[in-house]
Amino acid sequence: MSDVVAYEMDGDIAVITIANPPVNALGHAVRQGLWDAIERFDADEAAHAAVILGEGKLFIGGADISEFGKPPQDPWLPEVVNRIEACGKPVVAAIQGAALGGGLEVALGCHYRVAMPGTKLGLPEVNLGIIPGAGGTQRTPRLIGVAASVQMIPAGGNLSAEDAVARGLADTLGEGSPREAGLAYARELVGQGAGPRRVGALPCPKTDEAALEQARALWRKKSAGEVARLAAIDAVEAATRLDIAEGLDEERRIFREMMETPQRAGLIHAFFIERKVAKLPEIEGVAPREVARIGVIGGGTMGAGIATAALTRGLDVTLIERDEASADKARATISKNLEGAVKRGKLSDAQKDSILSDGFRTATGYDALSEADLAIEAVFEDMDVKKQVFAELDRVMKKGAILATNTSYLDVNEIAASISRPGDVIGLHFFSPAHVMKLLEVVVADQTANDVTATAFALAKKLGKVAVRAGVCDGFIGNRILAKYRAAADRMVLQGASPYQVDRAVKAFGWPMGPYEMGDLAGLDIGYMTRKRKEPTRDPRDVVPTWADELYHLGRLGQKTGRGYYIYEEGKRGGQEDPEVEELVAKAREKQGIAPREFTDAEIQRRYMAALVNEAARVVEEGIAKRPLDVDVTFLYGYGFPRWRGGPMHWADHAGLADLLSDIKEYAEEDDFFWQPAPLLERLVADNANFASLNDQG
Ligand code: 3HC
Ligand code: NAI
Repeated sequence: MSDVVAYEMDGDIAVITIANPPVNALGHAVRQGLWDAIERFDADEAAHAAVILGEGKLFIGGADISEFGKPPQDPWLPEVVNRIEACGKPVVAAIQGAALGGGLEVALGCHYRVAMPGTKLGLPEVNLGIIPGAGGTQRTPRLIGVAASVQMIPAGGNLSAEDAVARGLADTLGEGSPREAGLAYARELVGQGAGPRRVGALPCPKTDEAALEQARALWRKKSAGEVARLAAIDAVEAATRLDIAEGLDEERRIFREMMETPQRAGLIHAFFIERKVAKLPEIEGVAPREVARIGVIGGGTMGAGIATAALTRGLDVTLIERDEASADKARATISKNLEGAVKRGKLSDAQKDSILSDGFRTATGYDALSEADLAIEAVFEDMDVKKQVFAELDRVMKKGAILATNTSYLDVNEIAASISRPGDVIGLHFFSPAHVMKLLEVVVADQTANDVTATAFALAKKLGKVAVRAGVCDGFIGNRILAKYRAAADRMVLQGASPYQVDRAVKAFGWPMGPYEMGDLAGLDIGYMTRKRKEPTRDPRDVVPTWADELYHLGRLGQKTGRGYYIYEEGKRGGQEDPEVEELVAKAREKQGIAPREFTDAEIQRRYMAALVNEAARVVEEGIAKRPLDVDVTFLYGYGFPRWRGGPMHWADHAGLADLLSDIKEYAEEDDFFWQPAPLLERLVADNANFASLNDQG
């Protein structure tokens, strides 16, 4: 019969096995195979019950996402699930690893569910911008109730096998292999003369207005702008007032509506690019070097965070500081971070203690790094200091060890060229706080050996980070682009927008923070220092936010001093707007003879994004990012870009590159220094192509 769904008999039990690696996704062939197998089982008089199994490490990972957006092919998944449920003899799902999305829906179509310990049962559809579309929103509340359903489904969450059994989503925990567990359960059912037990035949779940309202309030707040999570709650609510057939129709209607949204396209783009980002020809098949012991040099903001990330993932860490006092301070920060991990249930108290006593030490001399496999330098952002550190590392580190820098802006080629083993040098640009933020820019210098790059990607995985390959330039991918859209914001402020309006408009687009709130969070001294660093090479036509320099001189450095662009009051969340800042800005405009004009929020968003995308196009063209998807992943994981917009390059493709280019040309009429269209953008528009077309290039 089917290549991907096998049917065989084990005594009087039919065993239906899905074998569609890697995740047994429910593509067309699987749906057809399941349909045929159930028809055969129903007609097979020798078969008294059936067990559905998924071959490999998991049951079923869900509908085949790569089919989304293509014309649907019969049989649809809801029909397959209904067909299983309608079957006249008991059907058991034996679930291991994961039953996700359509995978759980298939299991809910079965009459009985046996789950192996360690299995996740969940409906992650909302993370892809859709809702469960094969009965998940109707059958789940019939088993676990409305309150538990609206906790799980809009969160895209899952239950452990143990929880699922406790709540009634699964019937029993299995022992042995999934096949053994499924067969044993099916035999027991046959022995008891049990018939089919259809979830769809259970009565409508009782409504729970309070739970529905609470879930709506939560997701309105938590995922402003996103549509699928609220729509999933509507679908669960429908189960409380419609019979199963009408409820399934309503679910289908909402599912289809979600399928058509740009958010679905954005979220699915995000799903695929985060799996593609590490696929690079230069490291394909290249064995990474072994990394078990690492050194971190500098235990300040970044060094302490990097050490924490490494320690919680089981690496041995030696941290080098300038003196005992700084080393003690770093140790205290790391202990506090680890305590945080204990509080969040990521580590046990005993694990924390053992990490601090056995896996971690500080030192003030470099000889302590002689056995380290990799060292990450996170000292002050100063080329001379970095070179001194690298000279020491070159002296003490063993052959084959990797020497990495966490520099934000400095030239990694220059650092590499200053020592005797440039091939072992790489940039590992973590984001602050380094034990929390997921992004790691892997900065590949001219002479970096491929196995060093491969090791960086392997290390990122070990640390639970998402690595993006970047080339060497001022700011690499993310900070280089950030500098441009920050500058676009400053230009708008100079021309008449208030910093607060810019922040509000940018957040309304979906960013978690505006540029001025962000500045307050990072510390306005950072921007000031960057401006000073760039002063010698600054073009006279460049706009300098003189009001920001004044804030710095006033000691208003942002959150850490209680004042920056905003005023931060003890005990209050967020900052208050400050008319004094508006006055500083007004004075700056006056000084430059600029008559302020009005900006709409839409124009602010447009200019902000145009500046971002235009610079990103240059970053791609120069090979700093190999593909547009590298920019997208950088912004999703390092800058909080709204995931449902897929990433800035995906957004640009959907917003229309021709329109974006024409805006940039219009802006250039008033300021042709800042608004130079990127040649790649012009070329794509001329060829009627888009950024996505460049994503398959290596
Ligand atoms: N459809 C198509 N391809 C899928 C897929 C799916 N549902 N799930 C995973 N894949 C692909 C990945 O793209 C990847 O491909 P690649 O090797 O070419 O890069 C490969 O399978 C392996 O995936 P992972 O690297 O993610 O493997 P892991 O073992 O780390 O994780 C997993 C497995 C937990 C199943 C994870 O892949 C996952 O979360 N998948 C998505 C689950 C999901 O969202 N399911 C719901 C789908 S929507 C749905 O079911 C609609 C229904 O209600 C109608
Ligand atoms: P920081 O000032 O908080 O910490 C630097 C630490 O290095 C201090 O504890 C200092 O005592 C120590 N140090 C200085 N010289 C040393 C030496 N020769 N030997 C040993 N220790 C020495 O600085 P921060 O913010 O941690 O930055 C460190 C590096 O990380 C910089 O290159 C910075 O550009 C980069 N970075 C910073 C980010 C941030 O958000 N703060 C983000 C990403 C990268």
